[in-house]
Amino acid sequence: MILPIIAYGDPVLRKVGIDVDKEYPNLSQLIQNMQETMVNANGIGLAAPQIGKAIRIFIVDTSPFENDKDLDENERNFLATFKKVFINAKIIKEEGDEWAFNEGCLSIPDITEDVYREEKITIEYLDENFKKHTDVLDGLAARVVQHEYDHIEGILFTDKISSLKKRLIKKKLENISKGKINPSYRMKFPFLKK
Ligand code: NI
Repeated sequence: MILPIIAYGDPVLRKVGIDVDKEYPNLSQLIQNMQETMVNANGIGLAAPQIGKAIRIFIVDTSPFENDKDLDENERNFLATFKKVFINAKIIKEEGDEWAFNEGCLSIPDITEDVYREEKITIEYLDENFKKHTDVLDGLAARVVQHEYDHIEGILFTDKISSLKKRLIKKKLENISKGKINPSYRMKFPFLKK
């Protein structure tokens, strides 16, 4: 089932997510719904707060980068199959030089900004079968995971841009929260004016 994506301005996007356990109601259905919702919106990642649940779950699927000719072949091949569910994730290390990448977010349509993040992460998480993993990621895989991880910490990419850029997009963000936009997918707006 495709769920509405929660738009910028909703307090649920600012909550620190809580851990889930195997008994969480309809967990596999929830993950499947998140996957359908992400694919429908042409996303490469989606976090539970974006469908209104302040819990520590996010999903990524970087396969759209498979045909990105700006990337080297090794990275393209890796990203083609990088599809994962992260439950109760904890980034335990971030390292390397900070680099800029132009990020967007399904909760903040039509805005993209360069965001600086460290290049390499070590992350512990449970998969959809509650099996524990520790992954070391770099490049775009790390980037997508860092963005989604921020969501379960209540952080948005627009928090990480300069105060000048924040001022420049302030009105656009207000319009998003009021639903004065035409996204190509279902959304829920916190301050919708009828
Ligand atoms: Ni996002």
